[in-house]
Amino acid sequence: MAGVIRMGCTLTSCAPLFAAVFLFVSAIDGMPDADAPPGAGKMIRVGFSQTDNLNPWRVAETNSIRKEAEGRGCALLYRDAGASVQRQIEDLAFLISQKVDYIILVPREFDAFGPQLQAARRAGIPVILIDRGAEGTPGLDYVTLIASNFIQEGERAAEWLVQKTAGSATIVELSGTVDSTPVIDRAKGFREVISRYPRMKIVASESGDFLRTQGQKAMEGIILRAGRSMTAVFAHNDEMAIGAIQALKAAGMVPGRDVILVSIDGERDALKAIVAGELGASIECNPRFGPKAFDVIEALRRGEEIPESIVIPDHFFDKQDALEYIDKAF
Ligand code: AHR
Repeated sequence: MAGVIRMGCTLTSCAPLFAAVFLFVSAIDGMPDADAPPGAGKMIRVGFSQTDNLNPWRVAETNSIRKEAEGRGCALLYRDAGASVQRQIEDLAFLISQKVDYIILVPREFDAFGPQLQAARRAGIPVILIDRGAEGTPGLDYVTLIASNFIQEGERAAEWLVQKTAGSATIVELSGTVDSTPVIDRAKGFREVISRYPRMKIVASESGDFLRTQGQKAMEGIILRAGRSMTAVFAHNDEMAIGAIQALKAAGMVPGRDVILVSIDGERDALKAIVAGELGASIECNPRFGPKAFDVIEALRRGEEIPESIVIPDHFFDKQDALEYIDKAF
């Protein structure tokens, strides 16, 4: 999807003009260019390559980057790959061709962007990975990865389920985008924990691509094939859990009683489902990367050393506190 950079106009004056082309521009005198003469106020141009905006988590992440760029006076050249690796490859080529000062990248899949990271490096553009990892060496192919600990998220989901089911469950797993690091690592963490409990068994595992509709569809198919044999669902995100809840209800099962569900993200609809007793728990995956991503950019500009990875701490939501957090959730 197209994005354009326009220097020298404020967000307020330009927003209507560029809304149609997905432009995000901030005020002109924000974070100044380190190479510019004092007072020159040259605007820093940051490219942001997002994998998609197809669920509330992604929208919250995009908004966080957008808000922070505005707040710090950076021009944001934004590209939404619409869930296509090929398009994201093209987006990166575009951002490099535009000679942006920095690129913030959410890599859709782990091993798809090696040549683009190398091209950015050749062009002297530092790339900051957020949320998902990509093949390559931190400090060389990219500056750092700012992300949650996905393995730990999977472990926490499994630990909660073990405790809730007294170590005995017939589990359906709904995973997300194939070959993405959250799917790889959450599956790993979850399996690592349940492997210690012989009566915890995954009987079906399907991708719902992190989408509510796909999660529902996957669950409908599993119900058709396996009937009512499942007693638990581990969904790699809340949207798919909510889709699964709809499928379970349509099949006459009672989520929260016949089938215990646990998922990841901490979005508002999930917290509501927890309060309603349909979803058991959700492990937060915090999408608000803006402040940390722009802190890294500022630190780079001051010539500071950046750690290879920056871990975002995640909350845990169950019936105890879901209600309290609903208003703050995305
Ligand atoms: O990469 C993080 C995952 O991707 C979130 O759990 C999910 O909702 C998103 O699409």
